[in-house]
Order: sequence, then structure tokens, then C-alpha cells
Amino acid sequence: MSYSLLSVTYIAASALFIMSLGGLSRQETARRGNLYGIIGMLLAVLATAFGMNAQNAMNVQGTGFGMLAAVIIPGAIIGAALASRVAMTSMPELVAVLHSFVGAAAVLVGLASFLDPASHPTGTAGTIHNVEIFVGVFIGAITFTGSVIAFLKLRGSIGGKPLALPGRHFLNLAMMLGCFFLGYQFLSGGHADGLQPLLIMTGIACLVGVHMVMAIGGADMPVVVSMLNSYSGWAAAAAGFMLSNDLLIVTGALVGSSGAILSYIMCRAMNRSFLSVIAGGFGTDGGTPAPKTGNEPVGQAKEITLDDTVEALREARSVIIVPGYGMAVAQAQHPVAEITKLLRARGCNFRFAIHPVAGRLPGHMNVLLAEANVPYDIVMEMDEINDDFPTTDLVLVIGANDIVNPGAQDDPSSPIAGMPVLEVWKARLVVVMKRGKGVGYAGVDNPLFYKECTRMLYGDAKKNVDALLGKLRD
Ligand code: TAP
Repeated sequence: MSYSLLSVTYIAASALFIMSLGGLSRQETARRGNLYGIIGMLLAVLATAFGMNAQNAMNVQGTGFGMLAAVIIPGAIIGAALASRVAMTSMPELVAVLHSFVGAAAVLVGLASFLDPASHPTGTAGTIHNVEIFVGVFIGAITFTGSVIAFLKLRGSIGGKPLALPGRHFLNLAMMLGCFFLGYQFLSGGHADGLQPLLIMTGIACLVGVHMVMAIGGADMPVVVSMLNSYSGWAAAAAGFMLSNDLLIVTGALVGSSGAILSYIMCRAMNRSFLSVIAGGFGTDGGTPAPKTGNEPVGQAKEITLDDTVEALREARSVIIVPGYGMAVAQAQHPVAEITKLLRARGCNFRFAIHPVAGRLPGHMNVLLAEANVPYDIVMEMDEINDDFPTTDLVLVIGANDIVNPGAQDDPSSPIAGMPVLEVWKARLVVVMKRGKGVGYAGVDNPLFYKECTRMLYGDAKKNVDALLGKLRD
């Protein structure tokens, strides 16, 4: 393959990746976005394979179709088998382990690039190349071990409790300063003396990755996975610089910046600063009650029966469903979709309100509702629907808690004070479906349960929604 054809294919693949990100930003276009990404990746792999084969013809050792096939085919089969079997709630685990591969690849590319006798430019070009190697290996090593720890925490193989070593911030600072010093040694010494500081820095960066993620509570792992996603992108971009591969640079930058933006969006929707997540210590395993502040809501939560809920659903002209983590755990989305169909057919204005951090994954609720074939046009974002609650007859809160907590607005001492929430308590009637008095992810009590307009329908979300559906059909 000629160099110009290779460049054109790389540009086309880069454009497809950008279009893919654009498509994935909206539910209606997500499938198309996914398709663009698949085509872009196919083009990228083919162009790289044929480009390498051209190099092989020019006697560059160790490349060619045979070697590529030996690594790509088993990798593709294992990846496809794992991805097709993974449950939606285990997706962060899969993503974390995949990021660890990107980190490991960046480390290996950096070391190979340093050891390769054919790629040793001299002068300024040599210094730039060495900076690329050092930075790429540094980010790659942190990403690698950090992602492995995130994977083990999400899987429950190691406890979710944050590891708070005494003087941990000082330890991090000392390790970072050590890496800076080794970087100075690596760049100022000759090539023959460079391997030792490079390897020591790799070891220290691996420790930084372990220590950084061990210090973060299990419940904050989704934000950490998104942050590691960003690191893996920058590690890939650094590998692109080392290999002079424009496509890898563009793709790495896209992953790096979109991961950073996603982390920012998640932190903002939880009203947490990015630094407070990285510094660790918030939450424990998730769902553990937070320490008492003295401002806990008091009162009696009033219950409602299934029959009365059915009656309220039949009478309501406008209904908003607020799904949360409990709906995902109970897998209640399918009967919820059936109820939606039934009531819409009777002329009810039926909509869903989606909080940006409902559930435990970005877009968690959107994916569940799409899987149950709920029409996209009735699935509204928080900002689109929050003003409509005062004119709504009935709100069904299914397995959600923190995202409908009025304490976020009224109680400055609440751990979630300032977090934007869905203002469901402004509706005429709110039915909260959950199993009991359990707290949510943030571990705080919810004054919504004691409001005049609220009724509690206790029990597993799937069982109760199935029962509601049965009674509505009758
Ligand atoms: P949560 O506040 O975690 O509340 C979920 C509620 O579901 C619990 O209170 C639980 O109460 C109930 N539940 C559990 N299993 C159930 C079942 N089988 N049937 C019925 N109810 C069940 O969930 P949320 O309102 O979706 O809020 C999400 C939280 O996660 C936020 O605090 C957010 O900041 C955090 N978070 C989100 C993300 C992303 S990206 N989405 C990432 C990290 C953190 P019972 O035990 O009484 O049933």
C-alpha cells in the first residue's frame, strides 16, 4: 500500500471516529455512531496491516501478515466471546480490564521503541523521541496497574474500602518527584545509560497506579474507570508519537479528551470535584449509611397498596417514571415498557425522567430503556423535564433514591448538598417503589419519603411492576 493511500485511509478512519462520537451522543443516532466506529476501526486495522506488509517488502524485520494474524485473530475471538457474554452491570469491569491492556501496550511500545536500534534519532529529534518514550511509559504504567486494581475492586476480588495509608498524599508526591528526577537522568544521560532510569520509573509509576486507585472507594469506581479511560487515550496518543502513527495520535486524543469530559460530567452531576474523587475517601462500598448530621428527616412514611397505585395510574392524565439503580438491579425495565405501551394507548402523557448519574454507569437507564424498546422521544433528560413536575399527576420512582432527594437542595449539611436532583416532590402524587428503608449510593436518608405527596410501595421493583402490569391488563 502506498504511503499516500495509507494517509488517506487514516484520515477517513479518523473522520469516522469523530462521526462515531457525534452519533453516540444521542440515543436516536447511537446505532449509526456505533456503525461508524466499527467501519473506522476496520479501515484502520486493514490499512495498518497492508501498510506493514509494504514495509515488510522493504525488508523491515518482524512485521507482515503472519505475525499480525497470529496476534489479531485470537485477540478478536477472545474479545468477541467476552463482550457478548458480559452483563450490562458488569460493563465497567470489562472496560477497566480493556484499559489495562492499552496501558500495558503503551509501556511495551515505549520500551521496544527505546531498545530498537533502528529508531534512535539524534539531536533535538532524539530528545523529543525520548520525551515521548518517557511520558508514554509513565502514563501507560499508571493506567495499567490502576485499571487492574479498578477491575479487581469492581469485581469484588478486593474490598471496595479506600486504602488510607498514613501520609498517602506525601507518598504520592515523593513518587512523582522521583519520576521527575529519573526523567532528568534519562534525558541527560546517553542512550546506553537510559534503560535503568526508564525501568525504575516504570516500577514507580506502576506503584502510583496501584496506590492511587486503592485509595478510592469502590463506589467511586465508575468515575475512576472514566478517568482511566482518559489516561489510556493519552497513553495511546503517546504511543502514536513514538511510532509516528497519525491515526493512533488522533484516536488517542479523542479517547483521552472524551474520557476527561465524561469524568467531568459525572463529577458535576454528583456535585463532587474531580480532585475530591481522586483524593479518595468518599463512600465506602456504596450504600453504607453516611454519618449522622443531625438534620435527618423525621416523620412517618405513608404506604400505598398495589390496587391504589393501579387506580392512580388509571386516573392520571400525565405520568412521569423516574428509574434508578434499583430498577436496573431488579431488571424491571421490560414490564415498565409494557405499562408504558398500555397507558399511552389510553392517551396518557407518559414520560421518563433520566438523571445524568442514575444507576451506576453513564447512560445506564437509557441503555435499559432502549433494550426494552421504550420510544426515545418520551425519554427526557433532567434539564428537559424538571420544570414539568408541578403539572404532573403521578410520578413513579422505581428503585431511585439519591437522584430524587430534596435534601440536596434544602440541607446544606447533606453529603449530596448541591447535587442537581429531579424535583419529583412538586408533582401531585409520588409513588416510591423500593424494597424497604435502604439508603442509596450516597448513604443518606431521603426526606422525599416523608413528604405529604409521597406514598411508599415496598417490595422488589420487578415483582411490583409485574403485579401492576397484571392488574392494569385486568
Ligand atoms: P441509589 O441512590 O443508589 O438508590 C437505589 C435504590 O434502589 C436504593 O435505595 C434501594 O433501596 C433500591 N433498590 C435496590 N434494589 C432494589 C430492587 N430489587 N427493587 C427495588 N428497589 C431496589 O440509585 P439512584 O437514585 O439511581 O442514584 C444513583 C447514585 O449512584 C447517585 O448517588 C450517583 O451519584 C451514584 N453514581 C452514579 C454513577 C453513574 S455514572 N450513574 C456513577 C457513580 C455513582 P432498598 O434497598 O430499600 O430497596
